[in-house]
Amino acid sequence: MNIFIDSKMNDNDRRRELYTGALFAYSPCPSALKLCRLAQEMIEEAFHPLDPIRAHESLSAERSAEILGALKPKFIHHPESKECIRGILREVDCDLERTYFDVPRMRTAFPGDYLKTGIAYAFHPHRDTWYSAPFCQINWWMPVYELAFDNCMAIHPQYWSRAVKNGSSQFNYHKWNLESRFSAAQHVKADSRVQPRPEEPVELDPQVRLICPVGGAYLFSAAHLHSTVPNTSGVIRYSIDFRTVHLDDVQGRIGSPNVDSACTGTTMGDYIRGTDLSHLPTDAIALYQDGTESRYAMPPSIPGENPAGTGNSIGTAR
Ligand SMILES: [Fe+2]
Repeated sequence: MNIFIDSKMNDNDRRRELYTGALFAYSPCPSALKLCRLAQEMIEEAFHPLDPIRAHESLSAERSAEILGALKPKFIHHPESKECIRGILREVDCDLERTYFDVPRMRTAFPGDYLKTGIAYAFHPHRDTWYSAPFCQINWWMPVYELAFDNCMAIHPQYWSRAVKNGSSQFNYHKWNLESRFSAAQHVKADSRVQPRPEEPVELDPQVRLICPVGGAYLFSAAHLHSTVPNTSGVIRYSIDFRTVHLDDVQGRIGSPNVDSACTGTTMGDYIRGTDLSHLPTDAIALYQDGTESRYAMPPSIPGENPAGTGNSIGTAR
């Protein structure tokens, strides 16, 4: 697996690499720093007068869940957060006309067993493609405060091409939206929402933990198996993530290989265009609706390159 740091690669080539399992990490760009500052201000206001990374030391889990239940949607829908995403995309050479993104999510990982469910869900190993994400989805992840090896997230690269028995066949995105998503803040002690999980033991090692500075971002395919690292740092981790898809790949059904995802429904209706915030064309979304066979292949090889060396493969229908 290749890890590119501050690569100058153009976006077409970068997506091609991401679809083979590569990771890309970028130093903080101005718009990412702005987004993190916005998040910090909102977090600090919400937990005032407490130090937000130590709020768990003086608040009950119920009270923290209540605060996060108001804070997270406020951040997601803040007009400046969308502006920052557009700025980030521009600053790392994405074509805003053809790149679509979804609103940035704020995540929290609390130390120990304090709050692991609902609004602060500690993600078990999963692929986003188990949750109806398309195989051309790129995940962007960045820390809001200083990150450490013991409060970050991990990618489990050996499962890039290795199937995990999982519950994704029970997951339908539209059903999830109707039944579960908006009740996250209610799940303080236990989380009864049905989520796709591994149904066999997962070997967490080897794992990759990228430790970025505040506003640094790393990109990975939605098909990568990843998880929340158990937080033993003593402080709360706040991070931001968002997702992008490129219109050419959506229309061409290009993306990472599908090794084990069997969910139905699609998140395609969530992405908005970098320029005018319009949704993807209806016919493009329709390619990914329930019951539609989806075949994912690597982009056509670049002249002169050997496609056999890229892990070129076609996934199975969902
Ligand atoms: Fe995820």
